[in-house]
This record gives sequence, structure tokens and C-alpha cells, in this order.
Amino acid sequence: MNADPTILLTALGQELLARLAAEPDSGGLALAVRLRREYPADLVAAATAQHELRLAARAKFSRAADMLFTRSGYEQSSSEPIARYRAERFGDARRVADLCCGIGGDLLALAPGREALAVDRDEVHAQLALHNASVYGETENVRALVADVRDVNLADLDAVFIDPARRSGPGAASAGSGTASAGLGTASARPHAASSRAGTASAGSGAASSRAAAAAAGSGAASSRAAAASARGMSGSPGTAQRFRAGLSEPPLDWCFALADRVPAVCVKAAPGLPLDLLPDGWEVEFIADGRDLKEAVLWSPALATAPPADSGAPRRATVITGTGPRTLVAYPGDPVPVTEPGEYLLDPNPAVTRAGLVEDLARALGSGAGVGRDDSGCVDHSGCVDHSGCVDHSDGVGHSDGVDHSDGVGHSDGVGHSDGVAKIDPRIAFLTLDWPAQTPFARTLRVLDSAPWNEKRFAKRLRELGIGAADIRRRGLAGDVDQIHRRLKLAGPNRGTIVITRVNDKPWGLICTDPGSTQHGENEPAKRH
Ligand SMILES: C[S@@+](CC[C@H](N)C(=O)[O-])C[C@H]1O[C@@H](n2cnc3c(N)ncnc32)[C@H](O)[C@@H]1O
Repeated sequence: MNADPTILLTALGQELLARLAAEPDSGGLALAVRLRREYPADLVAAATAQHELRLAARAKFSRAADMLFTRSGYEQSSSEPIARYRAERFGDARRVADLCCGIGGDLLALAPGREALAVDRDEVHAQLALHNASVYGETENVRALVADVRDVNLADLDAVFIDPARRSGPGAASAGSGTASAGLGTASARPHAASSRAGTASAGSGAASSRAAAAAAGSGAASSRAAAASARGMSGSPGTAQRFRAGLSEPPLDWCFALADRVPAVCVKAAPGLPLDLLPDGWEVEFIADGRDLKEAVLWSPALATAPPADSGAPRRATVITGTGPRTLVAYPGDPVPVTEPGEYLLDPNPAVTRAGLVEDLARALGSGAGVGRDDSGCVDHSGCVDHSGCVDHSDGVGHSDGVDHSDGVGHSDGVGHSDGVAKIDPRIAFLTLDWPAQTPFARTLRVLDSAPWNEKRFAKRLRELGIGAADIRRRGLAGDVDQIHRRLKLAGPNRGTIVITRVNDKPWGLICTDPGSTQHGENEPAKRH
């Protein structure tokens, strides 16, 4: 149970937080004892817990040291780089609402330059959202409302962002701090009329919750699609099937989609395991990864959808947040990508690319030199490049793709991608192979030292010859316990490597790889073929 952090908004609370921040050993017992002599015990407990949350939150927010969190609110919050990237796609929308605002991870990015209404039925979260927005200098333009989002008047808004709470099963509690109550004093001037149901909407129980359960189990196209998808389970997001079962968000996804009937532009944040057939016509799905960590699926209503349609189904986009900003990949139509045995380099696509079903598009974009790594004259890092069908570097956060116009001359003028020199190693496995060391934000490049049909004894011997004593094993498309294989290989030696156990043309296959940036094994050693 979280201690209520709003007591820390008092002068005494702020003083205590400042003292903890200045302490080298803020978690020490002696300090806690000393502080409890000077301050009320509940304040010390809340401040100590808050201090720990702030330290953890540095991973997500540049101003974490001044923000306030509940534990659940922090865990569910969007990170600042992703929130800022998404907020840019709202373009010139001036009046926006952040529905289900939580502690305001998205609000702080949506608010600059806009009039923003933040709504949460959890009073503590609404209050923390206001506080956190003010930490980022957003005060006059931000209003908060304690209400069930279903009861909010959305008239006059240009756009709505909604990040519904994920539910783990029918009747599961929503993720708030469980303290929803009557209205929020700080949200006096409300730009949009709304009837606050706070007080009747206690988190995870009561009317709102039963409506959510009913909607999740309800009839209608979206619900039956959800039920069907739910029965199939979620591929592509191991371990998350239960958590991300379709329809089990609060409010449910079909309610979120219907917002587009009331507001010109809508963006819904969802779990990355979302079945794509749930998406209404004309909506774009964008998978966002922070580095190689797949974080979310973002669903853009037609007014905000800018990706071109992909091979099958909805317009799709894969976006990777890198150290130098977001990079985005959209469909790159063209010839089918051939299948060959692995060559000198193996590309392991980013999970956002794989999940978006854009692996072949990446192959074509690379093969066409479309700025994703063949020769960096392309759009890897130039700010004006927002019009590539295969690779969009969006310093403005917006990708526009017509599949044709490569204004900087990279790619093919006919807009048709040819995967020259880039192939798949199997029709169904998401690895690509090529003979040059591609540098792309959309995949990890590995140099192949050895490649042969998988035979554990042979590979154990070869690994010893190469002096590989530490290895990361990646298994894809084959069964087998990675830890047991690791033990049986009895690795020894000073070098590091990556062992890939997969299928090549449907045959069990092994590869020993190294990072091409590494100087181990001699950079120029050619790939040894079986
Ligand atoms: C996933 S969190 C939002 C996180 C937020 N985007 C951030 O970055 O900090 C979901 C929030 O939705 C709120 N919520 C769930 N159902 C709601 C409803 N029907 N009306 C209003 N708020 C709701 C919960 O209280 C919780 O704070």
C-alpha cells in the first residue's frame, strides 16, 4: 500500500524531502530514527518512500527529484522521452485532454504550448499530475479533474490522449492509489464542463468497475474480436498474455476507440501484445521501443494516422527511442525478400520492428540504401528528413510517407524497395542476413564467426577454439532450455560472443557471432561455413 504522498506537499513535507535528498545515506536506520524524533512518523514514512521512488524515477523523468509519485502511478507512467515523442505527433492541437492522466507522465509532455485538461478518477493521481506538470513549468494552462472519464464533457477539444489502466482479469482493481474521493481543490477553474463522479468511483470497485467488466464481456464487433483474440492468446509478447488480454483495460478499448466519434483526433496507449485485428479501420498502430525494450502500442485515430498501409492490415510504424532521439520505420513496399543461408552479418531486428511486422520492409529499406544503414548519406540523422517511406527521421516527431518521394535521393525513385544483398534466413524467422556491417537503429548487427546446422558437440568444440568463455544465447524458432544448453557447452576462454540457435530454411541452425564493434576474434576473420 502506498503512503499518500500528498501530505508531502506541505511545507514540513517539502523540508523533509529536501533533507533526505541532501543525505548521503538516505536509507540508513540511524537517519530514520533521528528524523522520527523531529517529524511525525507518518510524514517520515511517506518521505522515505517518496525519496526511493524519486531515485528510481530518474530512469524515466529528467526532473524526478522534484516530482511526486505513488508506486503504482510511477510504475504505469510513460517515460519522458516517449511521452514527448508522442506529444509531438499531436501537432497543432491546441486544446487537449489527458484522460486517465495518472501521475502526469504524459501530461507534462502534452501541456507545453497547449491548454490541457487532465482527468483521473483517483484524486491523489489527479493532484500529483498537477504538481508534476508544475515541476515542468506547466501551470496556468493545465487543469485537473477528479472524475470517471466517461462523465467528462469533451466538447471543444481538438484532441484526446488516453492511457487506460491495464486490468489483469475481470473485476481486477484499477491501478490507482485507491484513494479516489471528492473533488480536487486545486482544479477550480475547469475549462470543460464535467460532472465529477468522484466519491462513487472508488478505484477498481463499484459502478465504474462493473461497467468495465460488462464492456469487456459485452457483445458487438469489437468485443467479439477481443474475445476471439483473447482465446488465441498474445503471440509476440512472451509472459504478457494474461496482463494484456484484449478488452481488459479500464476503460475498455472499444470505449477508447469510440472517442473518435466525439473528438477530432484520438491517441490511445495500449499494451504491445494488442491483437492488431482489434484496430478500427483507418487507425495506425505504432510500436515503440526504448532501445530494445518494447514498451507500448500506440493507436492513432485517422486524423493523426500518418503511416502508409503495410503489407496486410493497418498502417503500421515501428519507433525506436535512441540516445539521439526517436527513429521511425514504416512500410517499404517492394519485391519479396529472398531466403538464404546466413552470410557475414546477422541482423536481429528491434522488437518494435518485429512486432509491427516490418522485418521485410527493413530488409528492402536497407537493400535500397534508404537511410537505415547502408551508407549513412541517408536519413539516419538529418533533421529535414521526414518523407521516407522506409525510414523517417523525425526531428518533428511526425512521419509522412507516400512510399515514393525520397527527397534526398536515397532509395528508389519508383518507391519500390529491392532488398539487394539483404535476405531472410528462414521464411518465418525474424533474422536478416547481409554481407556488410549495417548500422541501423532498427536492428542489432552481429558479425557471424561460424554458421552451421545445429550440433551441440560441434558448437561446443568451436566455441572453445574461439576462446569464448561468456556468451549470450539467443534461441528463436526452436525448443530447448537455454540455461541447460549454456551449461552443457562448458564455455571457456577470454572472449565474449553471442550464440544464436534458430532455424535456417526450416533446419535447426547455430551461429556464433560477435559484435562488429568488438576487436575480439580479429575483425576481418571471414565467416566459416559448414
Ligand atoms: C496507466 S495509468 C496512466 C498513466 C499516465 N499516462 C502517466 O504517464 O502517468 C491509468 C490511470 O487511469 C485511471 N483510471 C482508470 N480508469 C479510469 C476511469 N474510468 N476514469 C478516470 N480515470 C481512470 C487510474 O486511476 C490510473 O491513474
